[in-house]
Amino acid sequence: MSSTRLDEELPVGSVESPWAVETHGLTKRFGDNVAVNGVELLVPRGCAFGYLGPNGAGKTTLIRVLLGLTHADAGTMSLLGCSIPRHRDVALARVGAIVDEPRFHGHLTGRQNLQILAAARERAARGRIDASLKRVGLAQRADDRVSKYSMGMRQRLGVAACLLGDPQLLILDEPMNGLDPAGMHEMRDMIQTLVSEGRTVMLSSHLLDEVERTCDAVAIVDNGKVIRQGPIAELLAGASVEVNVECSSPERARTILAATALGAQIDVETSGLSIHLAAGTERDAIAEINRLLVEDGIAVYRLQEIQVSLESWFLQVTSRLGESS
Ligand SMILES: Nc1ncnc2c1ncn2[C@@H]1O[C@H](COP(=O)(O)OP(=O)(O)OP(=O)(O)O)[C@@H](O)[C@H]1O
Ligand SMILES: [Mg+2]
Repeated sequence: MSSTRLDEELPVGSVESPWAVETHGLTKRFGDNVAVNGVELLVPRGCAFGYLGPNGAGKTTLIRVLLGLTHADAGTMSLLGCSIPRHRDVALARVGAIVDEPRFHGHLTGRQNLQILAAARERAARGRIDASLKRVGLAQRADDRVSKYSMGMRQRLGVAACLLGDPQLLILDEPMNGLDPAGMHEMRDMIQTLVSEGRTVMLSSHLLDEVERTCDAVAIVDNGKVIRQGPIAELLAGASVEVNVECSSPERARTILAATALGAQIDVETSGLSIHLAAGTERDAIAEINRLLVEDGIAVYRLQEIQVSLESWFLQVTSRLGESS
């Protein structure tokens, strides 16, 4: 269903749209460079969603297009069920966003900065300043000048500024950028708290680890195209599984297993084998590997299934993509 149809059939910003962000064929070019290339994106409401890709993949450009900061060359999009650009004002009143580094007046305090921003918003925003500062853990430092804030504190003040509008959707471009491990931890907790309140947080990042820890679902973007998307657990379930086998005579073990119908990729390592099996086959395969080796007189010291990380899956997906192109 296209967002244009949603727009025609449902009231503006209908709660019936299950998607916080919906795009179809969204495209943005800079000359010959297609920065956003036919993006089909569905971000479910009420989750932390990672838009994950390497530098130059088109993450910031997609966010800028969604927020109407630059126009799309083709495609349709909606935010919280509101078609963009037609109902942009209605949508953006319920969206908080940080694109690039948040900018504040350094000579003013955190609270004063929020007061200025709240004055430009609806009346209720003023009443949300204290709660927003508290929510991002800046209540104690609210009356310090922003020039004295660390990068992490500025990022958090940026989120506090977003919260002034009591947004249903937060769009954060690289919120972990420049943060130390403690800062990332705080940002992660904050995002999860916002999601637990029923908000949707869409964040862009090139940090696989952080996205895996923070988000429920992801889209993987490369060269402007979304190449995979869905809940992380579901995506990883489709990845191959690595099994490490510690055994005597690894070379002979490899020859034995290569001659079977396991269909696995087998690499010899110093103390044994590393075996990549198709997802879903590993339980039976591990038992079979053990049986084959023991029957041949090879001592099996250890069989260990390695948890697939988003990072190793990402490499599998992108290398498969490289092979097919
Ligand atoms: N204003 C612009 N004019 C021309 N080209 C641009 C412009 N903005 C972005 N691009 C190009 O579009 C592509 C995508 O850039 P974008 O900034 O969206 O990537 P990104 O995924 O956000 O990268 P990063 O991880 O470095 O932030 C790049 O090739 C970039 O050079
Ligand atoms: Mg960027």
